[in-house]
Amino acid sequence: MSKACQAHLRPPVPYAFLTASAGCREDWDDGRFTLYSTTVKQPNDTGPGNLSSRYLESLMTFRLLHSTSRRQITMPTPSLPQTTKALILRQSPPERKPLFHDAVIQEQEIPQLKPGEVLVKMGAVAFNHRDLWIRKGMYPRIKIGSTFGADGAGTVIASSDPSDPLLNQRVFLTPMRGWESDPDGPESTFGMLGSGAFPPLGTFSEYVVVERKEVLKTPAHLNDEQIAAWPLAGLTAWRSIALAKISKGDAILITGIGGGVALLALQICAAMGVHVFVTSGSQSKIDKAVKLGAKGGVLYSDGSWPDALGQLLKQHRIQQLSAVIDSGGAEIMVKTSKYLKYGGRVVCYGMTAAPSISMTMREVMRAQQLIGTTMGSRADMIAATEFIAEHRIVPAVAAVLQGLEAAEQGFEMMEKGSQFGKIIIKLGKEDTQGKANL
Ligand SMILES: NC(=O)c1ccc[n+]([C@@H]2O[C@H](COP(=O)([O-])OP(=O)(O)OC[C@H]3O[C@@H](n4cnc5c(N)ncnc54)[C@H](OP(=O)(O)O)[C@@H]3O)[C@@H](O)[C@H]2O)c1
Repeated sequence: MSKACQAHLRPPVPYAFLTASAGCREDWDDGRFTLYSTTVKQPNDTGPGNLSSRYLESLMTFRLLHSTSRRQITMPTPSLPQTTKALILRQSPPERKPLFHDAVIQEQEIPQLKPGEVLVKMGAVAFNHRDLWIRKGMYPRIKIGSTFGADGAGTVIASSDPSDPLLNQRVFLTPMRGWESDPDGPESTFGMLGSGAFPPLGTFSEYVVVERKEVLKTPAHLNDEQIAAWPLAGLTAWRSIALAKISKGDAILITGIGGGVALLALQICAAMGVHVFVTSGSQSKIDKAVKLGAKGGVLYSDGSWPDALGQLLKQHRIQQLSAVIDSGGAEIMVKTSKYLKYGGRVVCYGMTAAPSISMTMREVMRAQQLIGTTMGSRADMIAATEFIAEHRIVPAVAAVLQGLEAAEQGFEMMEKGSQFGKIIIKLGKEDTQGKANL
């Protein structure tokens, strides 16, 4: 539904007849009217089913000429788009082995705004590892035909509430549903944006209709690309840190530091005054992590990395780790047990190395705890965003691609895994600065 204009005038009868026959309607509230069209399509379309913005304007002119007062008229805003390009999950052809679903661009209708909804013009969207798992058919509850993407940011360009303070504000979308604030877990059915049946919403789209309470204002120090790198990974990192129960002066290990979640966990922990050690498959990523505040790191590709970690801790006069934040799974508890304090926590949010975790009696006798985690609540998202705003943290962006047409390149980069930070797709106007920079 597009808000066309507002005025403080009483309309004459012929005008009401015209608007009704053209598919418009007016709402009256305290002597103030709003003219709506539910049928505006393209700017130059005409006819009752395709009312043009120009026709809407002429209705307003008619209204002006026939009104008793000409004060406080505002002209119609440009009509809103009715369709959007989106990146859609399409079934892998049966002959393709191993299975790899397609990601195709489709033009789709933009649904009309229902009460409590806003329309966001997306400025940037971000990949997560799960987008790749989804194409490989290795992620649960996916829905063929749905739109990709959990992360995205842009500007609110329309709202079901004409006086919505969110109008024209830069926002990002919360990436999950069903979890308001319970510290233990979701209060109701939990779902993530992108490629699933619930919620039926993905961010890889030029325009997105979303519940207004599920958009949060973008911190002023971040642009759309930087905030698009934040929601899913930032929320997961924030809750992992909370579950690790660490505070200033503690020492921790974060594994696979090239990952989106791991990097944000490092940035947040560094801002908290926590001493962070990392693992990576690449020395250059360790070096980059040190520039972001890590104390040092070891290569997990070297089988004796736990010994190397012990040496590194010694060099930094660190007795023991308080916690491990892990994305790999597999042997992480066994391998870090020797350097983790009694009662220390391993918080695991991923299974990049293996979809299981082994544990022996040594970890049990040391009362070391394995804690699983998945994303977080909306309350966590708000608290985490306040933290990065206060500490002016800028999520690391590895590459900015231009337009949904470049999505395949993004998937290839995710598969290669050589990035340090998030891979972003910028939507809308081309930015000459936008380039892949791995
Ligand atoms: N539970 C949740 O809520 C949640 C949320 C987000 C992600 N995840 C999961 O967490 C994992 C990482 O996600 P992401 O989006 O951050 O991925 P990503 O950006 O693609 O990064 C994955 C990272 O895993 C590291 N890695 C690869 N092989 C490894 C190994 N054998 N041992 C340790 N680390 C290894 C790599 O680190 P280096 O580049 O440093 O070598 C790589 O950068 C995925 O399994 C994802 O599905 C879970």
